[in-house]
Amino acid sequence: MISRAVTLQFILLLSYFPFNCSSEDFIFNGFKQAGNQLILAGSTKMTTDGLLQLTDDTTGVLGHAFFSSPIPMIIPNKNVSDVISFSTSFILDILTVNKAGGHGLTFAITPSKQLPGADVADYLGLLGPSNNGNISNHIFAVEFDHVKTTVQLNETNANHVGVDINSVKSNASQNAAYYTNQNSKVEFQLESGQPIQAWINYNGTNKMLDITIAPIPIPKPSRTLISYHVDLIPIFEKEMYVGFTSSTGKLASSHYIIAWSFSSEGMAQDIDLFQLPKFPHLPSTITASRSAVIRIGILSSVAILALIAMLIGVSLYLWKRAKLAETIEDWEREHPHRLRYNDLYRATKGFKETELLGSGGFGHVYKGVFPKTKEIVAIKKISNNTKQGMREFVAEISSLGRMRHRNLVELRGWCKRNQDLILVYEFMPNGSLDALLFNCKNKTRIILTWEQRLNILKGVASGLLYLHEEWEKLVVHRDVKSSNVLLGTDLNPKLGDFGLARLYEHGTKSHTTHVVGTRGYMAPELLFTGKATTSSDVFAFGVLVLEVVCGRRPIVNNAPTEEFNLLEWVRDCEVQGHLMKVVDVRIAKECENGEIERVLKLGLVCCQSIAEVRPSIRQVIQYLNGTEQLPVDLKLVYLNHHLLSFASQKSISSHATISTGSLQGGR
Ligand SMILES: *[C@@H]1O[C@H](CO)[C@@H](O)[C@H](O)[C@H]1NC(C)=O
Ligand SMILES: *[C@@H]1O[C@H](CO)[C@@H](O)[C@H](O)[C@H]1NC(C)=O
Ligand SMILES: *[C@@H]1O[C@H](CO)[C@@H](O)[C@H](O)[C@H]1NC(C)=O
Ligand SMILES: *[C@@H]1O[C@H](CO)[C@@H](O)[C@H](O)[C@H]1NC(C)=O
Ligand SMILES: *[C@@H]1O[C@H](CO)[C@@H](O)[C@H](O)[C@H]1NC(C)=O
Repeated sequence: MISRAVTLQFILLLSYFPFNCSSEDFIFNGFKQAGNQLILAGSTKMTTDGLLQLTDDTTGVLGHAFFSSPIPMIIPNKNVSDVISFSTSFILDILTVNKAGGHGLTFAITPSKQLPGADVADYLGLLGPSNNGNISNHIFAVEFDHVKTTVQLNETNANHVGVDINSVKSNASQNAAYYTNQNSKVEFQLESGQPIQAWINYNGTNKMLDITIAPIPIPKPSRTLISYHVDLIPIFEKEMYVGFTSSTGKLASSHYIIAWSFSSEGMAQDIDLFQLPKFPHLPSTITASRSAVIRIGILSSVAILALIAMLIGVSLYLWKRAKLAETIEDWEREHPHRLRYNDLYRATKGFKETELLGSGGFGHVYKGVFPKTKEIVAIKKISNNTKQGMREFVAEISSLGRMRHRNLVELRGWCKRNQDLILVYEFMPNGSLDALLFNCKNKTRIILTWEQRLNILKGVASGLLYLHEEWEKLVVHRDVKSSNVLLGTDLNPKLGDFGLARLYEHGTKSHTTHVVGTRGYMAPELLFTGKATTSSDVFAFGVLVLEVVCGRRPIVNNAPTEEFNLLEWVRDCEVQGHLMKVVDVRIAKECENGEIERVLKLGLVCCQSIAEVRPSIRQVIQYLNGTEQLPVDLKLVYLNHHLLSFASQKSISSHATISTGSLQGGR
C-alpha cells in the first residue's frame, strides 16, 4: 500500500544535536526545519506552516513518518538493564471537517521504516490483516483511536488510548482522559480539534510504561492515564525506528503532529508551547489577520440590522396601536403570572418612546408605572418572534417567574400578544453595571470603589450559583455580561435576562447550530459545540470580573491592537509580569492588600479555554470570599497565542447570534 506514494523530503535540520552514538535526543518544536530527519510515506506530508500532517481528511488513506536514524534499543554490554529507558512527548491534533471523523494515529517503535503489511482504518497504518498479532512483527505502539471498531480489538470505547504490542488489539486501553490534581478524571474527545499533549515514558529497569495525555495548555498531570508493566526485551530488536503512523477509514479526519520530543536516555526535553507553529484549523475558517476586520464588519452589520429591526418595530407598533383587543389562546391560561396587555399598555403610556429605558439584543425595555398601585416596573417587549416555540417558552418563563433570589431580577409576569412577548420585571433604579462602569450617559458620575465592585461580583456569583445549583432545576444563564447586571438601591447587583437566550434557540431549526451570546463573553467551546453550559457561564463571569477590575469593555474597538481584546491583553500582561498595569486607574490606589490581584487572577482562571478545568461557580465564590486559595499556578493556565488564534478562528466560523445593548441600561 505504502509503495503507492512514497514521498521523501530532504531539508537540513539546524537544531538537531545528537549527544553521543549510543543515545538519541531530539526535539521538534514544529517541523519547519525537520527536513531529512523525518522519512515520510503515504498520505503524510509537511505543511508549509511546519505541521506534520499524517493524514488529511481523505477517506481510506494511511501514512507514516519516522525519525530517519535508527535508535539503539537494546544495549547488550550493560548487565543491569539491557533494554533502554526511553521517553517521548508530542502534541497531536485531530480535526474533523465533517460531523463524524474517522480513525486515529499511533506513536510507533518498529524494526523498519517501511511497514509493508500496513492497512487503513482499524489497522491505523501500523499493521494489517496479514500480520496483525504475529509475534515476529516486533512492533510496539501507543494508539490514539477515535473510532470504536466492529472487530473485537479490546477497545474500551470510541475515544481511547491503547498499548499495542505486535497487534492493534490493545494489551491495555483507557478512555481518553486526564486526572486533575484533585484526582478527578476528566474525559475529553481526541477528535475535537483541540491540540493534545502526550507523554510516554518507559523505564527499562522496572519495566513500567507510563502514558499521560492532556489537552493543551494543561500541564503534565501527575497521575498517569495508563501504567502498564511490560518487558520490551522480547519485543524490541537491537535497533528500532521511532515515529508515527495514522489512517482514516470510511470516515476521515485530519491527523496532525505539531511538536515532538524524544530521548533514549533520561527524560525527553519539554516542548516549548511558545515556540509552536500555528495550530491547524478547519479549512473554511478565516485567518486571524482578517478577523479584526471581520469583527468590525459584524459589528456594523449588527448595527444596521438593529436599525432596520427598530424601524420595522416602530412601524409595526404604529400599526398595532389601533388594535388593542386581546386574543388569548387556551394554553396561555395554564400559566401563572399572565398580565393583561391593556394594563401594560397603560403603564407604558402606550409603549411611548419617552418611556424607553434601553434596547437590548432581545427587544426594547420600557419603564412602566401601574396607575392603580403606582408600582414601577421594567417592561421588556420582545418583537417579531417565530410562533413556533412560543408556547414552550412561555411555560419556561412562567416557571422562571417563581424564582426568588436577592441577586436575580425578579420576573413579575408576562403577556403574549400576537407575535410579541412582553416580560415584566422589577425596576432597577441604578441602571446597569456597564453604564456605571464605563460612564456612558452616566449623569450621576458615580465612581465605583473597589469594595463596591467586589460586592457586585460576589452578588452576581451568588445569583449564578442559585441558577446553577440551588434552584429546583439547572438554569444556564447564557448571557452573563455587564449590561445584564442591574443595580438596585445601595448598589445591590441583580442578574437579568436569564433564560432568554432559550427563546432564540427554540425559534431556530434544530439542525443548525445556533449560538446565542455576546461577543467577547463567549467561551471558545460554545462557538465550537454550540452548547451553553454552566462552564460557559463561568467563562462569561470571568470576562465580567476583568471588566470590573480593569474598567474596560471586553472588546475595545478603538484600542491599540494588543489591547483590543480585554482577555488577551490581561493574559499578555500577566505573562510579561506586569499584571497590575491593567487595573482601572480609578481603583488602583486600593491595590495594597493583594485582593485586586487575586480577583484579577480568578478572572483569568475562569476564562481558561478548556471548559473542564474552569472552576464551578461555587468554587468561584469561595475564592472571592478568600476562603479558598486559587487552585492553579497562573503560568500554567496561560494560553499561548497559537491557542488563542485557534479559538478565535473557530469563533469567527460559527453562526453566532450577537446580541448587543442592555436590559435596563443606557438611561
Ligand atoms: C550480571 O548479571 C548476572 C545475572 O543477572 C549476575 O549473576 C552477574 O553477577 C552480573 N554481573 C555484573 C558484573 O554485575
Ligand atoms: C508471522 O510472520 C512471519 C514472518 O513474516 C511468517 O513467516 C509467519 O508465517 C507469520 N505467522 C503467522 C501465524 O502468520
Ligand atoms: C498482548 O496481547 C496479545 C493478544 O492480543 C498477546 O498475544 C500478547 O502476549 C500480549 N503481550 C504482552 C506483552 O502482554
Ligand atoms: C484488554 O484490555 C484490558 C484492559 O486494559 C486488559 O486487562 C486485558 O488483558 C486486555 N486483553 C487482551 C486480550 O489483551
Ligand atoms: C526506573 O526505575 C528505577 C526503579 O524503580 C528507578 O531507580 C530509576 O530512577 C527509574 N529510571 C528512570 C529513568 O525513571
